[in-house]
Amino acid sequence: MSKTVTIPEAELQDVHSRARPAEARTTHVDLDWEVDFERRELRGKATWTLELATDARRCVFDTRDLAIEGVTDASGRALQHTLGERDGVLGAALTVQLPPGVSKIAVRYRTTPQGSCLQWLGPQQTAGKRAPYLFSQAQAIHARAMLPCQDSPGVRITYSAAVRVPAGLTAVMSAESRTRPGESGVFRFEQTRPIPSYLIALAVGDLAFRPLGPRSGVWSEPSVVDSAAREFEDLESMIDAVEGLFGPYRWGRYDVLVLPPSFPFGGMENPCMTFATPTLLAGDKSLVNVIAHELAHSWSGNLVTNATWRDFWLNEGFTVYLERRILERIFGARAAVQDALLGRQDLTKTLGELPAADTRLYLDLTGRDPDDGLTDVAYEKGCLLLVHLERAVGRERFDAFLRAWFDEHAFQPVTTGEFERWVRGRLCQGDGARAAALGLEEWLRGEGLRADAPDFDHGVFTEPTAAAREFAAGTLRDLPASVRRWNTAEWLHFLQALPDSITAADLGRLDAGSGLTESPNAEIAAQWLELAIRARYEPAWPRLEQFLVSIGRRKFLKPLYTELSKTDEGRARARAIYAKARPGYHPIAQGTVDKLLAGK
Ligand code: BES
Ligand code: ZN
Repeated sequence: MSKTVTIPEAELQDVHSRARPAEARTTHVDLDWEVDFERRELRGKATWTLELATDARRCVFDTRDLAIEGVTDASGRALQHTLGERDGVLGAALTVQLPPGVSKIAVRYRTTPQGSCLQWLGPQQTAGKRAPYLFSQAQAIHARAMLPCQDSPGVRITYSAAVRVPAGLTAVMSAESRTRPGESGVFRFEQTRPIPSYLIALAVGDLAFRPLGPRSGVWSEPSVVDSAAREFEDLESMIDAVEGLFGPYRWGRYDVLVLPPSFPFGGMENPCMTFATPTLLAGDKSLVNVIAHELAHSWSGNLVTNATWRDFWLNEGFTVYLERRILERIFGARAAVQDALLGRQDLTKTLGELPAADTRLYLDLTGRDPDDGLTDVAYEKGCLLLVHLERAVGRERFDAFLRAWFDEHAFQPVTTGEFERWVRGRLCQGDGARAAALGLEEWLRGEGLRADAPDFDHGVFTEPTAAAREFAAGTLRDLPASVRRWNTAEWLHFLQALPDSITAADLGRLDAGSGLTESPNAEIAAQWLELAIRARYEPAWPRLEQFLVSIGRRKFLKPLYTELSKTDEGRARARAIYAKARPGYHPIAQGTVDKLLAGK
């Protein structure tokens, strides 16, 4: 079981939180919330339990765009407090004075419309069009816009919650349900395992549930729930697969909530209740790798957590590695290699576009919004480093290493330094020459990709690679009949392999043979639309607008608005589309596109 690991204090410093946990550290919060759809505010009380240093005088919380109404101790006695100046990234620190003997603090507050964590949807923005919907997205530093908290991934808390909602609506959280039978309009939850604040999550709407296995199931609006259950029917066997590889699933239930299309990510690993975009429902399970990914975070991220956002690659690089190990088990090695190659291609593209300093695994994010600094590099370069180590020591030893990493750091923060010490000690047996031969230092702190970065068998894409080459050269008029058997990865590879010089007439030919403009697969559609913008393939314009107005997933918005912004005419179109689309996006996606279109 987990031992206490000592990590040097300097590695644990979090530049994105004002909290001073060494003086007063939160360990538990009891939430009493009212969800008010009319005022679009979440209000109530957060009662914090503290662990205090002997000379502790105050406790500092992070907040952003919260209205603080009062602060008391457990007996209701008012406590002195100040709300500091608002910083655009960090928000305002709430400092509460602690009289001797006080180790519980109750904060009454409400959220405000500027807050970046919550999205309030009107009935029109839902599938059912009948009821409103609310959901949160706290990673990286948006939890502080939902509740005052020590918003650092190095601080872990348990929580309990009572959530009051209008009649007929259902609330879910990143916790186990403790709702009392017969009590209507109040949903109760308990998260008994200590989690960082970025994993606190809430959604409220007209929700239905379908079980998938003894400890898993899917939630969504009623009209979506059956197709979601079909798409994710392998969920329970995915859990079994990771358990077989890396040790027990330690969170009780594992459910997936399929959100409305404005959800700004593919998936978010909220414990017990992964949040997912409905764009995963392709009808053929071809996008379930995202679910494998979020499930894998139950080990890498939720159990063993990046201490600060500098160490984000420890969450995401590990998770991408695990995701592909799950895919290999469930769908075979070929599918896993195809995903690895697509990832490597994305990485190469990203590396060419980013400032050199942002191509490091160990990032310096001082003074920056983590939403801007967290990129593909953490995911794909991080995963490549793990594949590199796996190949160096062999899979058997590497699996034992990973399993020990999860067991010995369970429910604790980890840093890049800690990882480096582990690789040196446990994979290299303290042999400095071996560590040097692995290039560990440069992998972790250097820019770009080393020449020894692992590659994968390109043979898995022979057909789409050849088709793209011939099509571009004009020697292939129409696609081969075998494209009917192509999977999503093969289509994506084919589209990425087409040269930049492809013309609108070429795309017209392709479209006639394949119907790509109307592809119901959001990944394929997004890739196609990017090409269509570049080649000015006008028949795709209506679909582009419909796509951008109806889907708020940042991964799709970023490349499409970026591609549009490259010409004057495109920028004008981007602005016109965004004027319609913006009200439907989550504040996080709004922030991304606002920045992207500003000053251009
Ligand atoms: N935890 C991330 C999402 C995230 C990262 C939210 C940083 C906020 C800040 C999640 O696990 C994720 O990586 N989702 C990916 C899917 C994955 C298959 C790469 C996504 O949303 O596209
Ligand atoms: Zn992830």
